[in-house]
Amino acid sequence: MAVDLLLGLQWGDEGKGKIVDVLTTGYDIIARFQGGPNAGHTLEFDGIKHVLHTIPSGIFHKNALNIVGNGVVIDPVIFKKELDALKKFNLDVKSKLLISRKAHLILPTHRLLDAASEASKGKAKIGSTLKGIGPTYMDKTGRNGMRIGDLEMSDWKEKYRNLANKHEAMIAYYNVDIQYDLAELEKDFFESIEELKQLSFIDSEEYLYQAQKSGKKILAEGAQGSLLDIDFGTYPFVTSSNTTAAGACTGLGVAPNQIGDVKGIFKAYTTRVGSGPFPTELFDEDGETMARVGNEFGATTGRPRRCGWLDLVALKYAVIINGVTELMMMKADVLSGFDTLKICTAYNYKGDKIEHLPFNIEAENVTPIYSEMKGWKEDLTKMSSADQLPDTLQAYIDFLEKELEVPIKIVSVGPDRTQTIHR
Ligand code: GDP
Ligand code: IMO
Ligand code: MG
Repeated sequence: MAVDLLLGLQWGDEGKGKIVDVLTTGYDIIARFQGGPNAGHTLEFDGIKHVLHTIPSGIFHKNALNIVGNGVVIDPVIFKKELDALKKFNLDVKSKLLISRKAHLILPTHRLLDAASEASKGKAKIGSTLKGIGPTYMDKTGRNGMRIGDLEMSDWKEKYRNLANKHEAMIAYYNVDIQYDLAELEKDFFESIEELKQLSFIDSEEYLYQAQKSGKKILAEGAQGSLLDIDFGTYPFVTSSNTTAAGACTGLGVAPNQIGDVKGIFKAYTTRVGSGPFPTELFDEDGETMARVGNEFGATTGRPRRCGWLDLVALKYAVIINGVTELMMMKADVLSGFDTLKICTAYNYKGDKIEHLPFNIEAENVTPIYSEMKGWKEDLTKMSSADQLPDTLQAYIDFLEKELEVPIKIVSVGPDRTQTIHR
C-alpha cells in the first residue's frame, strides 16, 4: 500500500486538522512528519472544538494508530499538556499513540534561544511562535540534538546538561533582556519527560514499512504550509523544516516511490500569521470581513491572522513542488456575501508580468494582477452535497481546477466534521 500525504499549500492553518480527522475513517495509521508545537490543528465534532499541536489529528478515531514521526520536534512540556487535555475523552491514548525514537527533543533552553534570537532581530523578526522550533532543528542539523531514543539511555541527563550549558552561553551572547528561571523550567521539563516515557517509543521507519507491507492504509499529516518550507517558502520568513511532500519521505522514512495520493489543502482565500511578504494581503474592509467571518486567530498563539485574496501564482507553485494529485478547498463559507471575488493570476514583477513565484516577493518588487469573479450570497454551512453549491461558487471551483490542473475533491463549508462536501 502506498502512503498518502496531506499537506498545507499556503502559509499554514489551511484546515489540515479538520480534514485529517474527516479522512481518518479511511486510514489505519496517521503519521505526523515534521514541525512541532508551532502547529495548531483544530478539530470540531459533536459540539467539541479541540486543538492539537504535536499529536496527529487521527487521535479521536478508535481504530486508528497515530505516529509522531522522526521529522517532528517534541516539547515534552507541551506534549504533556496535550495528553492532559485528551484525558477527558477516554481515548486510550497509550495504545494509540507511538513516538519515533529519532524525533528530536525541544529543550527549555531552545525556547529561550528562540526568544533571544527574535528579540535580537528587532523589526526584522520572523514572528516565530517562540516554541523553540528553529533552535531545535539547528541542533538537529548541527548534530548536537537530543532525541527521544536518548531518553532510554542512562546518560541522557548528562547529555542534557551539556547542551543546556551551551545554550545558556549562547543566550548570553545575544545580549538581550530575557528573564528566566532555568531550575523552574527544568522541573517542569523533567516531570513531563516521565509522562512522555509512559508512551511507546518505536523505530517508526521500520514500523511503517511493516505496516505498509501488511496492507495498512497510512496517511502522512503535514504541519505548517508550503510557503513556510525552509527551502521553498518565503525565506527567511519560514519555519525550519521541509513542510512539502519531500519532507514526508525524510520525516517518516518512506521512500519517494512509496508515496500515493498527495492531498493539497488550501483556503478559498489566503491567510498568514507572523512576519513576511504576502502579495495579496488586504488592509481594507474586505480583509477585515475575512478575518471576522473566518475567525482568523492563530490556534497556537492567538495572534490575528493577516488575510487576503487567493494567490493562484503561489498556489500553482505549491501544487508543482508537492506533486499534488487532489485538492481540498477550505472555508468557502467565509466568502459568502462578497459581490466580487478577486483571484491573483499573475504578478507585476519590477514592471514585467510574470506567472511564477520569483525569488523575492516583497511588496516593493511584486504587485498582484487580479482576475475578478462573481461572488455568492448563499449560506453554505448547511449544504451537504456538491449539487447544492451555488453556480457562482461552482464557477470559482471550475476556474481553479482549470488553472491548477488538479481536481478539487473536497469543499469545506464550516469547521465541523460534517460540514464537508465530497466531489
Ligand atoms: P490547520 O493548522 O491547517 O489544522 O488549521 P487551523 O486549525 O490552525 O485553522 C483552521 C481554522 O479554520 C480552525 O479554526 C478550523 O476550525 C476552521 N475551519 C476549518 N475548515 C473550515 C471551514 O470550511 N469553514 C470555516 N468557517 N472554518 C473552518
Ligand atoms: P499549522 O500546522 C501558521 C509561522 C509563524 C512564523 C513562522 C516561523 O497550524 O498550519 P516558527 O515557530 O516555526 O519558528 O515560526 O512560521 N508558523 C505557522 N503559521 N500555521 C502554522 O502551523 C505555523 N507554524 C509556524 O507564525 O511566521
Ligand atoms: Mg494551525
